[in-house]
Amino acid sequence: MSMERLQKYMASLGIDSRRGCEMLIVQGRVTIEGRLAVLGDKVDPGVTLVCLDGEPLGQYSREELVYVALYKPAGYVTTAQDERGRATVLDLVSDIPERLVPVGRLDMDTEGLLLLTNDGDLTYHLTHPRYGVEKEYVAKVKKIPGLEELECLRRGVMLEDGLTHPAWAEVLSNGLVRLVIHEGRKHQVKRMLASVGCPLSALRRTRIGSLSLSGLRRGEYRFLTQNEVDRLREDCRNIRNGETK
Ligand code: URA
Repeated sequence: MSMERLQKYMASLGIDSRRGCEMLIVQGRVTIEGRLAVLGDKVDPGVTLVCLDGEPLGQYSREELVYVALYKPAGYVTTAQDERGRATVLDLVSDIPERLVPVGRLDMDTEGLLLLTNDGDLTYHLTHPRYGVEKEYVAKVKKIPGLEELECLRRGVMLEDGLTHPAWAEVLSNGLVRLVIHEGRKHQVKRMLASVGCPLSALRRTRIGSLSLSGLRRGEYRFLTQNEVDRLREDCRNIRNGETK
């Protein structure tokens, strides 16, 4: 492994002068393996994934990055490897040769949209609370929330790890509850609904940012189009700039 200063590596790729690349780093536009780079960072050229404004540099051309939307069925663990030998979401995409990582987590008994990718930068932006990308869920509840409960969910409810951010909550015509949240805390939707006295009995994630579950059947996956990947990146940018929908 031959480590090189980040700005020197970026300059060698023709991005800008070394000084110019230092500025890009200081401006927070560069990430290394999905985390924000700082001056003084070193990288292994051609091995470390470096992104500028979300775009991979060097040998990591867009073609080598893989993005998969999976309809996770209940009964699968969202992890790369399960020490208890249970079925994992990677078993459902085992014919894809690239080393994919799930973006965020769905509980074992939750079904719905799960994104898998080898793009550490997009994973970072989609899961970091700072970017607050929307996640939409539809829950089957044991008791239908009334206006007061919906208002609590919208304003934020106090959980043991703190107040939840404002969310969208509504009862659909079929009695299911639709919740749109911007965070990804453990068991968040289950805990939010339980906290207003309306525990759920089944949960499905139907959307992440601009990407929806529609068109997929349980256990099925598909590759995202370049346009869908660009829109997901845009979802992270819009929210960072305070332009939330
Ligand atoms: N909230 C939950 O409670 N469970 C999930 O799997 C996802 C969000």
